[in-house]
Amino acid sequence: MSVHSKLYEGKAKILYTTDDPEVLLADFKDDATAFNAQKRGTILGKGQINCSISSQLFKQLELNGIKTHYIDSPSPNQMRVKSVKILPLEVVVRNIAAGSLCQQTGLAVGTILQPPLVEFYYKNDPLGDPLLTRDRLLLLELATAEQVDAITNLALQINKFLISFWWQCGITLVDFKLEFGLDSQQQLLLADEISPDTCRLWNTAEADPNRRVMDKDRFRRDLGNVEDAYQEVLQRVLQAVESQ
Ligand code: C5P
Repeated sequence: MSVHSKLYEGKAKILYTTDDPEVLLADFKDDATAFNAQKRGTILGKGQINCSISSQLFKQLELNGIKTHYIDSPSPNQMRVKSVKILPLEVVVRNIAAGSLCQQTGLAVGTILQPPLVEFYYKNDPLGDPLLTRDRLLLLELATAEQVDAITNLALQINKFLISFWWQCGITLVDFKLEFGLDSQQQLLLADEISPDTCRLWNTAEADPNRRVMDKDRFRRDLGNVEDAYQEVLQRVLQAVESQ
């Protein structure tokens, strides 16, 4: 496969075109940003770790009937993906209250959310990725009503799978963000990545509210040991996959 030109550079990944118009190469970076890129840094080894974790999770999801953009991973920090038109939506699923939900509603961190909450945010940096209502989403024509329903169902299905997968890793899935895209046949595919950058992951065996954090909150909140936490998550994912 020969790589052509840089198509897009985001905060965590660079996308390249390839000789196949239906295939892109995603290069995962060590760069880390938070709070709409107001905080910037580097997490050493993050590109490889997130690419490896995402690859394993996409493969597992495919085995469970979820269609994703994943093709394969030609090197530890690179993923070949199907070219899709990304919907400008960040779909957040929450099982336990944390982060912006607590800041915006006053709910206590750790409150169990049953049923899980599915939220849509407008993927728009200049506007600060605002929370959308269904009506606003339809008003802005960010997706059709059918797509919103399909995405909600998929997000809940993915949540069920991920809760159980992370549980096998000794990790409690607090919340996570998904992105979806449409392929050339207008088929909805799960895209982007699933990693400690995009999930809140708490060590199930650890009660201490700072020590239990195994995700990007360690970087956001300057908790230290960021690289170690990401590495530990990867090791647990690989062990869980091997033991299946
Ligand atoms: O900040 P907030 O509490 O809304 O984040 C919810 C979940 O979505 C967290 O797991 C966070 O890591 C993820 N997220 C993300 N990218 C964003 C915003 C949130 O991966 N731009």
